[in-house]
Amino acid sequence: MITHRVSNQEQGQALAAELFVAASNQSPQHPVGLATGNTMSGVYQQLVASEFKPRFAHAFALDEYHGISPTSKNSYLNELKDKFAGPLSWQGELHAPGQGKYATESGNSDFESGLRELGPVSVQLLGIGVNGHIAFNEPGSDFESRTRKVALQEETMRSNAIYFDDPATVPTHANTQGLATIRQAEMLLLLVFGEHKKQALLKSLQSPDQTTPLAALIDHKNLVLVTDLVI
Ligand code: PGA
Repeated sequence: MITHRVSNQEQGQALAAELFVAASNQSPQHPVGLATGNTMSGVYQQLVASEFKPRFAHAFALDEYHGISPTSKNSYLNELKDKFAGPLSWQGELHAPGQGKYATESGNSDFESGLRELGPVSVQLLGIGVNGHIAFNEPGSDFESRTRKVALQEETMRSNAIYFDDPATVPTHANTQGLATIRQAEMLLLLVFGEHKKQALLKSLQSPDQTTPLAALIDHKNLVLVTDLVI
């Protein structure tokens, strides 16, 4: 693992944007892997500010709430259109588990097939949850897991409730790439900012086990951590 220690989140997001551009331009024939949430919003803002012109034709989202309308403001597909595709005027195809052509009985295995056919992903953006989740792979997830429907843990639903007008409507399930799916990317770009994430990161690095999904990725040949934490 390569670690880049930065002095704050903004600096880290700027560095991540640079690394993302370099990695995706190196293999423009391959798709990229996108993520959502606060951490990534700043990366996308930096990409837009630098007038990045994506050369890849496909992007795969890590996860999406199960059963959510793709036009809901809480849909991750919608968030990626709003913060990434739209502002960058990118016309490529966004793939999100459980959405569009993947909203079928065989959707999750079709998503895996799509990744296999178009992949490998050149660079996968990754965050980590306060409880250590990676995408919607909650603590305890199988390290060999593939794209599937999962139940969200209480803590994840609580943290995400702030984004919903009515917290009672936070979905209870999601479709997520599995840990083995994520591991297939050529480069994993992991961004961890803020003291509230420190415990999750330290636990994954110092005593990795089945309760730390990041442990499934720690031996990846090209894992790059950008963090403002002293670890
Ligand atoms: P955040 O989410 O960037 O909004 O903190 C990260 C995650 O939960 O994976």
